[in-house]
Amino acid sequence: MSTRRNFLKNSAIISAALSVPASLKCNTASPQTAKGEAFILSTWNHGIPANEAAWKIVGEGGKAIDAVEAGVRVVESDPKSTSVGLGGVPDRDGNVTLDACIMDETGNAGSVCFLQHIENPISVARKVMDDTPHVMLAGDGALKFALDNGFVKKNLLTAESKKAWQEWAVKSKYKPIINSENHDTIGLLAMDKNGDLSGACTTSGLGYKMYGRVGDSPIIGAGLFVDNEVGAATATGMGELMMKTLGSFLVVELMRQGATAQQACEEAVMRIIKKLDYKDLQVGYLAIDKAGNMGAYAIQPGFNYALMKGGKNELIDAVSYLK
Ligand code: GLY
Repeated sequence: MSTRRNFLKNSAIISAALSVPASLKCNTASPQTAKGEAFILSTWNHGIPANEAAWKIVGEGGKAIDAVEAGVRVVESDPKSTSVGLGGVPDRDGNVTLDACIMDETGNAGSVCFLQHIENPISVARKVMDDTPHVMLAGDGALKFALDNGFVKKNLLTAESKKAWQEWAVKSKYKPIINSENHDTIGLLAMDKNGDLSGACTTSGLGYKMYGRVGDSPIIGAGLFVDNEVGAATATGMGELMMKTLGSFLVVELMRQGATAQQACEEAVMRIIKKLDYKDLQVGYLAIDKAGNMGAYAIQPGFNYALMKGGKNELIDAVSYLK
């Protein structure tokens, strides 16, 4: 292909990527990180303690992959966080089934889905990534792998979650409506002092879901994607919408074609708005690029995220399509 044809092709791709409607472009602060500065971004208010744990690693010069795992483990082990790990809202039959994935700066990835009885699915996903030739293990296979590798079997249905489920079961109305109040996967992205990116994403999924339902969080490219040359993205909200648009991969690809992290998050939300029924449903994206710029955007108001840099950890409200 001639140089001119290459140029025209690349220009077309970049302008398509940047065709975010002007009305949607916003002036969200996108602080650029100084070279050598670590940086952590995570979903929702439980991102604050997760960032603290992750910072203990990257702040001391440790690797982003170790930081993202350590960060989300805190939320998985918190019984009060009812959408992740221990104490997670069960499915309609009372089973707590967990999804998680992790991805490092080399493009290596590990994932578990429909995993029961293990408090820290992110560490099982890490083990799949580090010690097997595979990316994803599911259900009983994931549980067997975890137990074979020293993870401890545990009842994850806390008394509080059981009581709430039993109250729900009286009417057992099954209408998956997700908004900012009832669903909050943790997705955590980190850049270490070496400038390397990694991410982790973990959830108990949609409350009172059908037995066997798996969401976006363990799907590489839907709930999480990392490309160390370009950037990283993660998602929260109604997983079916991110799965149908492969949202986190889309965000990273848009950045590769020239969109800013903010534009990429906005365009990924717009794909959902244009093609899918999003009424009453929430989706939120977070992204960071290789230069340390960040983006955040959601369908509904109410999505917030925790940003930690320079040792300062703060909760910020994301801008949204609906006001
Ligand atoms: N975003 C998590 C889920 O839909 O399961």
